Order: sequence, then structure tokens, then C-alpha cells
Amino acid sequence: MKVMVAGGAGYIGSIVAERLIEEGHSVLVVDDMSKGHREAVPQAATFVEADLAFAGGLPGLLTAHRIEAVMHFAADSLVGESIARPASYFRRNVVNTLNLLEAMLAVGVKRFVLSSTAAVYGEPKRVPIEEDDVLAPTNPYGESKLTVERMLRWLDAAHGLRYASLRYFNAAGASRERGEDHRPETHLIPIVFQVALGQRERVEVYGDDYPTRDGTCIRDYIHVVDLAQAHILALEALGEGSRIYNLGNGQGFTVREVIEASRRVTGHSIPAVETARRPGDPAVLVASSRRISEELGWQPRFADLETIVATAWDWHRRHPRGYG
Ligand code: UFG
Repeated sequence: MKVMVAGGAGYIGSIVAERLIEEGHSVLVVDDMSKGHREAVPQAATFVEADLAFAGGLPGLLTAHRIEAVMHFAADSLVGESIARPASYFRRNVVNTLNLLEAMLAVGVKRFVLSSTAAVYGEPKRVPIEEDDVLAPTNPYGESKLTVERMLRWLDAAHGLRYASLRYFNAAGASRERGEDHRPETHLIPIVFQVALGQRERVEVYGDDYPTRDGTCIRDYIHVVDLAQAHILALEALGEGSRIYNLGNGQGFTVREVIEASRRVTGHSIPAVETARRPGDPAVLVASSRRISEELGWQPRFADLETIVATAWDWHRRHPRGYG
């Protein structure tokens, strides 16, 4: 299939592009390079630098490359930043996505996979979280993704646009060639590695008074290659109708457990210091991925925390300054 990967120069998009190519698909990466890395784009992909804000060019791009399906990762995704700059988040994550969807409909492309998020649930009422649980985002980032999911439902009803919305929990790990490089970095595992690489003195643990086994937040870390495989399964299943899936390991690990696993993997002492809670962090986010496993047979291959951390470390060790 000819697949457009919007945001394919970013962490998850580039690894999905890599997997698509390995599975024999042909890939067009479109990225505005606001956060992406040219080096992350697989060599076998065609690359076009374009901003989805410029709606006029999108139908021509889709037809020129005979695109049959779109996978959409191009978004801003920082909770704190979204609280400070909500309008920008709604413009880039909702308006730009609508531009893309309208362009697809204009030229008859009706298969779409959305990179969604656990942030659509807000503070969960129960864990593990199931897809039908209450949707109550507590920040504009989660609200923007939920808005896109809601638009998709109506576009499907009116125009037969078949979509899969994949609500990721905490993407982590690396493939052999591609890894996580955000600037600035805010994610726990890459920050821990910056300490192991001597680029940072210590990691701050945001809050140790949560109602969890060691007082630190629990998250569900899912290997990015498992995540990529789920995108491919979801794309292949679109013919049977639209769907929404959680994607996690179903196991939660505390911040302290992640730091401990990183100490074992890196052999570095990784000094840590407890600081105040980060506003907007729920205590526990753990997914039930039962639906995707029952319906599509998806199973994580790298469910073990140490394996996830080890693959990430392997990439960071070889790319101590990230890409380029
Ligand atoms: N943390 C620290 N110190 C750090 C960085 C993070 O203690 O320096 C903690 C956080 O408080 C959190 C955990 O480590 O408890 C994981 O934090 P990340 O920033 O790595 O990931 P989040 O869980 O905040 O974010 C993820 C996705 C977001 C998504 C969010 C849903 O990256 O895109 O889950 O809540 F919106």
C-alpha cells in the first residue's frame, strides 16, 4: 500500500515508517520539521517537507504520490506546554488535522490511522483503563486529540472515512536505527540516560507522595516497535470498519522502578532527587489492551521494562547527542 506518514520525522512516526517499509509498503513522509529529524526518515521513504497548515497543497500531494492511506503523527504533544498555549495546540493538532482529513476526502483517500493518547481519559476512574471508560481530558493536549477522534466519527458516518485511533500510553524504547530525541527533552527515560551519559547531574523525581507502592507515579511503558506493529495491524484491519484501541503493556511501573531498571542496564548510579509534583500528572495510568489483542491478535513482544530500557539505552549510547 502507498502510505503517507505525516510526522514521519518524529520518534514514533519514523519507527512506524521503518516498519511499514520492512513490511513492503511504500512510504511518503511529510513533516514540517518543527520537531522532526531528517536523519530519522528512512532512506527508502520519499520525503516532503510540508506544513499541514497550508491546506491548499495537500490534495495535490496525496494524488501526486497515489496515496491510499494516511498515518498521522504530526502533532504537538507536551501536556505542560498545551496548558500554557492552548490555542496553538488546537490549531496545530485539530485545525491542521482537519485540513489533512478534508484533503483526503477531496481526493477519495478513506483510510486513516491516528496517533492518539491516554491523555483523552484524564484522571482515570479505574485501572487498567478500557476504551469505553470516561473521556475527560485534563489538559488541551488530550482535549485536542479527543476532538480529532470525535470529528473522525462523524466523517466516517457521513463519508465512510475508515479510521483507527490508537491511544498510546508511554511510548519508550528504540529500534536499532531510530530512537527518542525531543528538544527540549521532558520524558523520563531519555532524561535518565542524559544523567548516565554525564550530560545532566541528576534526575528529578516529580512527587513521591502519590498513592502508589513507592509514592511515585505509575505509567504503562510500551515499546515503540510494538506500537509500530499495532499501527500496521490496525491499517490492515480498516476494511472491516473503524476502531479505537488502547496501546499499553497492561503493566505499570513507578518512576523509581524505571530509574532502578536504568541503573541496572547502564551500570551508572543515576543520582535522583525528589522534587514537587509536576502539575497535571495523574498518579496511575495503565492500559487494558485487551480489545486490540482480542480483535487483531496484537501482543507486545517487548513487555519487560528492562528490555524496553535496554533497547533505548543501546540507541542513546550510540547517539549520545541524539540525531545530527
Ligand atoms: N518524570 C519525572 N521526572 C522527569 C520526567 C518525568 O519524575 O524528569 C515522571 C513524570 O512525572 C511521570 C513519569 O515520569 O510520572 C513519566 O513522565 P513522561 O514525561 O515521560 O511521560 P508522561 O506520562 O507525562 O506523558 C505521556 C506522553 C504524553 C501523554 C501523557 C498522558 O508522553 O504525550 O503520557 O498523560 F500526554
